[in-house]
Amino acid sequence: MKNIIAFAGSNSKNSINHQLATYASSLVENVKVNILDLNDFELPLYGIDYEIDHGIPDNAHKFLDAIKASDGIILSLAEHNGAYSTVFKNLFDWMSRIDGKLWSEKPMLLMATSPGGRGGATVLDIAKGRFAYMGGHIIEDFSFPSFNDNFTDGKITNEALNSDLKNKVASFQNKL
Ligand SMILES: Cc1cc2nc3c(=O)[nH]c(=O)nc-3n(C[C@H](O)[C@H](O)[C@H](O)COP(=O)(O)O)c2cc1C
Repeated sequence: MKNIIAFAGSNSKNSINHQLATYASSLVENVKVNILDLNDFELPLYGIDYEIDHGIPDNAHKFLDAIKASDGIILSLAEHNGAYSTVFKNLFDWMSRIDGKLWSEKPMLLMATSPGGRGGATVLDIAKGRFAYMGGHIIEDFSFPSFNDNFTDGKITNEALNSDLKNKVASFQNKL
């Protein structure tokens, strides 16, 4: 059986991106899902001096190992001031010091959501522009707007958005 990882680019306990990534992963059929939480991979703030003095922390290796052991990735990015959240960028930077092609050509469903109407579209565009240079193989992307209006009890309530996501998940599934 194929295995996928799902995670949010957030360290919030109640992360809406974690909820969306978890829901999307539940729509993928016949796979083993490993839901990861960035809080379980604490890392010092990246700095070249730290790296020279201490090397690359184990948690960066552990997260990269989870990517490499997977057959596909579902990632939902939090948007902070039009960019990656600090916790995600930090992990991304650390992993890039181990392997510049860190996404390892694994099929990816890349998403973002926010409470606002743009649904994290700005950070999604940043990631779409960048990941391709870093081993990223984005099969589909999905921006989910106005999270609090469109998501309840672990599920998307807006039919059109739910149908859009289901189609994108099916396309992701076909590439696993
Ligand atoms: C520092 C900070 C900056 C934010 N900037 C944006 C932003 O640029 N665009 C946006 O749509 N939401 C922004 N938000 C709201 C986040 O989308 C919201 O907190 C969301 O819940 C974050 O995702 P998470 O719950 O998965 O962590 C910001 C929130 C914080 C704390």
